[in-house]
Amino acid sequence: MKSFLRWAGSKRSLLTQLRSYWPAQGHRYVEPFCGSACLFFDLQPGSAVLGDLNEELLFAFRAIQRDPYVVLECVRRLPRGKSGYYSVRAMQPSSLAIAERAARFLYLNRYCFNGIYRTNLAGNFNVPYGPPRSGKPPDEAAIVSASAALKSAVLVHGDFEKTLEHVQPGDFVYLDPPYYMESRRVFREYGPGAFALSDLKRLKTQLNRLDDIKAAFVVSYADCTEARDLLRRWSPRRIPTRRHIAGFSGHRRTAYELIACNLSDVPGVNP
Ligand SMILES: C[S@@+](CC[C@H](N)C(=O)[O-])C[C@H]1O[C@@H](n2cnc3c(N)ncnc32)[C@H](O)[C@@H]1O
Repeated sequence: MKSFLRWAGSKRSLLTQLRSYWPAQGHRYVEPFCGSACLFFDLQPGSAVLGDLNEELLFAFRAIQRDPYVVLECVRRLPRGKSGYYSVRAMQPSSLAIAERAARFLYLNRYCFNGIYRTNLAGNFNVPYGPPRSGKPPDEAAIVSASAALKSAVLVHGDFEKTLEHVQPGDFVYLDPPYYMESRRVFREYGPGAFALSDLKRLKTQLNRLDDIKAAFVVSYADCTEARDLLRRWSPRRIPTRRHIAGFSGHRRTAYELIACNLSDVPGVNP
């Protein structure tokens, strides 16, 4: 099953490799940087914890989990076209009921330029209108099956450390953090909360902790000096992938992704 969201940094193109690490049902799935959660929707684990710093994303997952038909009805009521888009974008999410808030998020995700999520310093979504290339909002079948998949999930809004507090021995954790690269100017896809060097240090501490408590983890990260330092202990594989340049879908280049895991250290889990 595909994720119903367009998401900058989605690992859809790496699903074949990522799927092979999943030790199969019976393990709980935890994803603290879930974004569009494409691996989660692909695997449809029986039990899961999904977390992200993006509050609108988590509100949308919660509303779809709870009542997909109400969310779909709210999406249908939103005005279409360029001026409709800017009026929906101008709505204050905190003033909306949860289903309306989720509908706004789905609508903006579909009609914005390249499916990027970006806010200004005041926290307001500021991505311009994207059609004709962005397609239609997800249909009823996609949202209803996403709701069924999300029924088993605990949804956490917050920093990755908060989601990782849920991890228990034997859980399977997939971590796909935003890229931090000092050597390059990185397109700021996630607004003012973009990843900093201090976050990478916190992440390194968390990977060691997960290993200590015998939780299995898989990390994917753009190949760069900082990632090699972060993942050295776990002997990462280097995998070619096609990546958008500065968020523009027409401009792609071959880049490399590192995938590291501690699976051989975890009893009962095969690499
Ligand atoms: C590379 S994307 C994950 C993409 C996801 N694997 C997918 O397939 O769509 C990274 C995600 O981390 C989130 N994020 C950024 N900083 C975070 C933090 N400190 N804690 C938790 N999530 C964070 C962003 O909102 C974004 O959704």
